[in-house]
Amino acid sequence: MAPPVLVTGGTGTLGRQVVPRLRDTGREVRVLSRHHSEAGDGIESVTGDLATGEGIDAAVDGAETIVHLAGSAKGDEDKARNLVRAASRSGAQHLVYVSVVGADRIPVVSGIDRAMFGYFATKLAAEKVIAGSGLAWTTLRATQFHNLILMVAQQLARLPMIPLPAGFRFQPVDAGDVAARLVELALGTPAGLVPDLGGPRVYGADELLRSYLRATDRHRPILPVRLPGRAARAVRAGANLAPDRAVGRRTWEEFLADRVGSLSDSRSSLA
Ligand SMILES: NC(=O)c1ccc[n+]([C@@H]2O[C@H](COP(=O)([O-])OP(=O)(O)OC[C@H]3O[C@@H](n4cnc5c(N)ncnc54)[C@H](OP(=O)(O)O)[C@@H]3O)[C@@H](O)[C@H]2O)c1
Repeated sequence: MAPPVLVTGGTGTLGRQVVPRLRDTGREVRVLSRHHSEAGDGIESVTGDLATGEGIDAAVDGAETIVHLAGSAKGDEDKARNLVRAASRSGAQHLVYVSVVGADRIPVVSGIDRAMFGYFATKLAAEKVIAGSGLAWTTLRATQFHNLILMVAQQLARLPMIPLPAGFRFQPVDAGDVAARLVELALGTPAGLVPDLGGPRVYGADELLRSYLRATDRHRPILPVRLPGRAARAVRAGANLAPDRAVGRRTWEEFLADRVGSLSDSRSSLA
């Protein structure tokens, strides 16, 4: 039987799309999580923490391919370091990593940059840990997922008046489209840094927010705020976009219609 594919972050937004797609190819899958979860058909669950390294040797044991999706706002460099140490000891053959478009183009130099865009710096640092690990690797940079844009819009919509970074644009991509590409990459040979993956269209931040407000029948004044710092300037110049790689298929409008439809269904079933 083929060795299992280890998926770190297999319980997250992206991971939940990657795991079934890997299973559909007939591969056994091992999911790493900090929390115990039940195993499923062909899916093994292991508990470990990439921030401390606890449980990671057992997680990588016997896995030739590792798809590293675990991430959080901070500390992805340390998580990558703990993972590559264990993977090097276990003799893993291919490490696939997901990063973010703009990791190499958004300068994080000042305290203000770090406070608002430190995530991009840690993703770049984690990319470097993986590229310098001595393991064979593949890294895919993706734009922001629809789910993230929706979550931010939901939080902002709670405010009576919404401050929004002036001049920011996004190219939201569906986590399912990113998952499909990652599975293809995981089953292929190590390819280094592959072309970015962006969603089908670029939108102004205000356009995305207004579409959410409209879909949920809300009215809020939007107040454009010019963010200071070099990182914010780079984002205004489009460093977080990949217009030449608009290959994601599912649109923001399709995602929003599905999600807002299910939100209003659950509201009416609560009524
Ligand atoms: N969201 C976006 O718009 C976007 C865009 C481009 C790239 N990415 C990248 O895509 C990846 C997945 O993002 P996502 O939105 O799916 O994330 P998510 O929904 O927040 O899920 C995060 C995952 O990471 C795991 N995790 C976090 N800290 C961990 C730790 N210390 N040890 C082990 N596992 C840990 C969590 O597992 P447990 O909680 O079960 O332990 C969970 O499965 C991340 O690397 C992110 O940087 C995201």
